[in-house]
Amino acid sequence: MDDLAYKTLEDYQRAKEQALTHPSQFWAEIATNFDWHRKWDTILEYDFHKPEVKWFLGGQLNITENCLDRHLKTQPNQTAIIFEPNDPDEVAQHFTYKELHSRVCRTANMLKAHGAKKGDRICIYMPMVPELAIAVLACARIGAIHSVVFAGFSAAALAARINDASCSMLLTADGGYRGSKVTPLKDIADKALKSCSTVRHSIVFKRTGLEVAWNPIDIWWHEAIKDVDDNCPAEVMDSEDPLFILYTSGSTGKPKGMVHSCGGYMVYTAYSFQNVFQYNKGDVYWCTADIGWITGHSYIVYGPLTVGATTLMFEGVPSYPEYDRFWEVCAKHKVNQFYTAPTAIRALQKHPVELVNKHDLSSLKVLGSVGEPINAEAWHWYDDHVGKNNCPIVDTWWQTETGGILITSLAGVTPQKPTYATLPMPGIQAVLLDNEGNELADENEGILAIKYPWPSIARTIWGDHERYKSVYFSAFPGYYFPGDGALRDADGNYRITGRVDDVVIVSGHNLGTAPIENALNEHPNVVESAVVGFPHDIKGNALHAFVIIRGTVEDANTLEAELRALVSKTIGPIAKPDYIQVVSGLPKTRSGKIMRRILRKLAAGEYDQLGDVSTLLNPEVVEEIKQNS
Ligand code: WT7
Repeated sequence: MDDLAYKTLEDYQRAKEQALTHPSQFWAEIATNFDWHRKWDTILEYDFHKPEVKWFLGGQLNITENCLDRHLKTQPNQTAIIFEPNDPDEVAQHFTYKELHSRVCRTANMLKAHGAKKGDRICIYMPMVPELAIAVLACARIGAIHSVVFAGFSAAALAARINDASCSMLLTADGGYRGSKVTPLKDIADKALKSCSTVRHSIVFKRTGLEVAWNPIDIWWHEAIKDVDDNCPAEVMDSEDPLFILYTSGSTGKPKGMVHSCGGYMVYTAYSFQNVFQYNKGDVYWCTADIGWITGHSYIVYGPLTVGATTLMFEGVPSYPEYDRFWEVCAKHKVNQFYTAPTAIRALQKHPVELVNKHDLSSLKVLGSVGEPINAEAWHWYDDHVGKNNCPIVDTWWQTETGGILITSLAGVTPQKPTYATLPMPGIQAVLLDNEGNELADENEGILAIKYPWPSIARTIWGDHERYKSVYFSAFPGYYFPGDGALRDADGNYRITGRVDDVVIVSGHNLGTAPIENALNEHPNVVESAVVGFPHDIKGNALHAFVIIRGTVEDANTLEAELRALVSKTIGPIAKPDYIQVVSGLPKTRSGKIMRRILRKLAAGEYDQLGDVSTLLNPEVVEEIKQNS
């Protein structure tokens, strides 16, 4: 797959040029690098107004044949996955491509034996163990649509996702290790399943030995897999068949099930992985994300395996047993490419640099960042202490919806610029728009938009194509609207400035404020609430909740604790507000819309930047909020 990578700036510029002049032909050439059962008839059909996007129509493939079978011919004994457990005293595991193929086929047969078939939705709620990656691939093997739910989500959030997609099966575990904690996953799943009538089987992987309750639909994974063999021909899929659903939060209460396709997603994740990280055969690549997020799907599992890479999966957290765990793992496995999030860098930066320096990081060649804008201080710390000023840093901008990285530098090939994601990948036509939707030229600041499809764009929101249209294609007709603001320098480099909608990125997690407000409003004493983000040293943003309550607060601490527990129970601990402020009113426009812009300034303590508040229905509450902050 080395052919996929541009190795010089000239190659890159040539590709950019080609992609601009013959965009669909450009992708067709890239797509010839993969194994297809049947070649496509039509490269691309699209209409952003409908909206509709279809790539490689008529083409047939199975992504797991590209991730696994193909490599059996050339590198069966190459390590595909290195598993590093939560506890450093537990031995790491190595799976060759041959072993991984065999495990995936057996697991696929296990799913089939329990009635799973092409098109079924299978929910996966598991810790970061090898079986999670294997389960994902096993679904893809048989054409079942996986829906991975991050193992930090609550029972209510899990149930909502299972029901939205009418999943017929759940794959889970007794528990999951994360640092010094054990999450009782089966217990949480049991609570969720009480309200999920479509799930017929729940297959439970034993990881922690935690005691669990047992229900008629439960089967132990190790028992279910006993009697199956490892011969499992891959289901032949159409390019446009759904490969998976992955939920992301939006500005209403309901999560959006983004649907990714088999063909386009495969082509784009492999192409971008190879180019961004400049992976060479035999390198050890480590992305610290969880497979519960898109980063894990695209850049732990599918992208790396499609190109035959060695991908490291880490079960634990950066702080356990000490704040040097990342560096210890890098040294232990001689990691070459390391991909993490700014929130992790900022957290580690607070600890003595000796924790970095005591480990031999000389194997590192490339560093990556993803999830939110990386501030200058974190960028330089990463560059100086981890990269020793000797590793290019790729700041990769993308989204659950985009499937793969869209704006980034290519390690060592294109110039980097601290705090800038830099340039769109060849084939990505990014633009800046003003509020009226006019394209802005040259050096400028505005709303980021993309004006031509790329192969891994999400095709729809599961069960709600209208919403897909209204969220991504209605604000600026003819463009894909990602919801981020950006500025562009004279050389065309983009710097992402943050969200322009009601989504807040907390510790790299994309959280809609509406679902958090809905959770708060469930408390019997809460009349109304508004949640906004404010800048936070480590988390990037933290949440400030303004709540109007019924009657008087007897005990503010109890109320706060109850509200946090409610959010934790409904969404998950990641969504708990840092501040909860009781207010008598919320600043509203004359049409009754909450002025979030003002609340954001108040939460950030930027009282001198509130702008004109006189047009508000109730300007007096602004003064009150200031006084009581
Ligand atoms: C939002 C998407 C992409 C996988 C992880 C998050 C923000 C992401 C960057 C970056 C500035 C970034 C954007 C984007 N974001 N990467 N390199 N620089 N902002 O996926 O949960 O779908 O969130 O994350 O605001 O829209 P996600």
